[in-house]
Amino acid sequence: MRAFNIADLRTRARTRLPRMVFDYMDGGADDECTLRANAQRFRDYELTWDALRDIAALSTATTVLGCATQLPLVICPTATSRLFDPRGGERAVARAAHAAGIIYSCSALATTSFEDIAAVNPGPKWFQLYAWKDRGILREMLTRAKAAGFTAAILTVDVPVAGNRERDLYNDFTVPPRVTVRTALQALARPGYLCRLWSTPRLRPEIVHDVMPAIDGSIIEFLNRQLDHSLTWQDIVWMIDAWDGEFAIKGVSTVADARRCVDIGATGVWISNHGGRQLDTAPATIDTLEPIVQAVGDRAQVLLDGGVRRGTDIVKALALGARAVGIGRAYLYGLAAAGEAGVARAIALLGDELRRDLALMGYSDIKSIRRDSVIAPHEARHKK
Ligand SMILES: Cc1cc2nc3c(=O)[nH]c(=O)nc-3n(C[C@H](O)[C@H](O)[C@H](O)COP(=O)(O)O)c2cc1C
Repeated sequence: MRAFNIADLRTRARTRLPRMVFDYMDGGADDECTLRANAQRFRDYELTWDALRDIAALSTATTVLGCATQLPLVICPTATSRLFDPRGGERAVARAAHAAGIIYSCSALATTSFEDIAAVNPGPKWFQLYAWKDRGILREMLTRAKAAGFTAAILTVDVPVAGNRERDLYNDFTVPPRVTVRTALQALARPGYLCRLWSTPRLRPEIVHDVMPAIDGSIIEFLNRQLDHSLTWQDIVWMIDAWDGEFAIKGVSTVADARRCVDIGATGVWISNHGGRQLDTAPATIDTLEPIVQAVGDRAQVLLDGGVRRGTDIVKALALGARAVGIGRAYLYGLAAAGEAGVARAIALLGDELRRDLALMGYSDIKSIRRDSVIAPHEARHKK
């Protein structure tokens, strides 16, 4: 496949998807400041190298929340994967992750059931949940996830209400899509996509559907209706107890919240702003990483996602203390571009870049990356 970086996969995805579907994946909230900042701020950090180091044998393997992985890379939970690849969807992503030996996370709004995902991915996998109002439903989801072999639960806390995605408004776009003149014209411009969509079962959030069959309206309407808007930190302690295993909280942006996570018993603190899809002008995740690691890194593993598009981004996050990074759009572009092969390509590109960057920096093992290999924007020693 002639895709030499994640940006190439994005270009391909754009040519394969109707504009509204591409925009839903690619876009962010409001003015998309945070969406842009997540990726841009990585570039403001600089890397240095140690020359003449033994890099003959490179190791990128590690463990994250108790799971072994070949790369410090986690597939982020993203809703409705079958929208981007109607035939493969979550199964294509889960298979590619398993083949690459990395961890797959399944969204609460997946368009494939736990059991169908587990059938193609016997490897390490996590389940992401939202705090629905109904505890019974949450309990049932946790039980089913555990029975299907999911080993860690991830509670996403940066969606008290859905963010304002204006590209979707301009495109009349909802999930599942509804027919308007605009959506029809955009869909007809991609007949190949329409054929793939129409030749597969109807898109619906399977995991949610299995436990609460009566879903009407769009996913965003459903989210806004079903999310518990009165939830506070103490209300999730029961969830951690009920899961009784590795439990990470995703959507952390401040030291204070990171401390709250570990105080209530979370084993993972997942720094994320939902890829810039929720509160706009929130800081880029890379800028919040180091203080959070300093505050809680001895009590929990810290993960980070948002804007990871290059191996150098991964190295920088690890140097600043992340245990692993999550990728969202990077693999979704691959999924839309070429299904399972596209996801495999995205993972391979990032893995190859990471190994090359390690070698260039004089490291043979990701676990030995030192903090002083990164120059943060506020340091800029070489410019003095
Ligand atoms: C299309 C799309 C759908 C998403 N759906 C979910 C979701 O269902 N649950 C969740 O916790 N995060 C969701 N996210 C956020 C991702 O898990 C992740 O935090 C984000 O994509 C990371 O930023 P990146 O795309 O720049 O890598 C979604 C992101 C995208 C792009």
